[in-house]
Amino acid sequence: MSDCAPRLLSVKEAYQLWAPEYDSVPNPLFCLEERHIAPLLQSAAHCDVVDIGCGTGRWLERIYSLQPRSLTGVDVSSAMLERAARRLGRNARLLQADCLYLPLGASSADWILASFLLSYVVNLRKMACEIARIARPGARILISDVHPATKGYGWRRTFRYAHQLIEIQTHPYQLDDLHVAMQEVGFELTSFNEYSFGDNEKMIFFNARRLKLYEAVKGLPVLLLASYRRRPG
Ligand SMILES: C[S@@+](CC[C@H](N)C(=O)[O-])C[C@H]1O[C@@H](n2cnc3c(N)ncnc32)[C@H](O)[C@@H]1O
Repeated sequence: MSDCAPRLLSVKEAYQLWAPEYDSVPNPLFCLEERHIAPLLQSAAHCDVVDIGCGTGRWLERIYSLQPRSLTGVDVSSAMLERAARRLGRNARLLQADCLYLPLGASSADWILASFLLSYVVNLRKMACEIARIARPGARILISDVHPATKGYGWRRTFRYAHQLIEIQTHPYQLDDLHVAMQEVGFELTSFNEYSFGDNEKMIFFNARRLKLYEAVKGLPVLLLASYRRRPG
């Protein structure tokens, strides 16, 4: 979402720098995602919940208030997890790990979230296998991400750090790659939606003096939200 030449960093390097500021800048994509995920959270109550790529614990904190049976956040970035630990204290178990090698037992989760993680994953099929391994029959998984179509709008994953524009390395995928990967390991798609920015997000662009960016993608899909259920047996 920026126009000058950025410095490309790996996920770990980038989030090390971004973590302290990550929650402080209003983000229209988070705003849009929150509007659509919040109504779906209720089903996490009394479940063993795992948030993969939990970052600073934005969703863990919300889910904790729903009284899950257990709450676990996994993230590859120690800097992001440090912020999550400050936010959650003892209310969640936080584990530093790659989502391709989850340090969790087989059939240990029945409600799984992966919010804005997918674009960073090197191997979607391997991630799907790991999710299938930890998911109990009937488990639900909710996946959100910046819509793959945004690449066509010229979007990159960038942020500012010390007057520099940093780009985070991503691994582009097609929507079918995701659906096929999940179906192959035993999940059925229960809902799939593509969302565009609305008035709530327009205000964020306006306040950041970036209304032109909003106008450029008005009506176009910028967010995907997919929900899957692990087939029984
Ligand atoms: C855009 S942030 C999203 C954080 C959080 N889910 C949220 O929505 O606020 C992406 C997070 O995914 C983590 N991440 C990226 N690749 C990962 C991987 N392979 N395994 C685990 N976490 C990863 C990053 O460290 C970062 O915290």
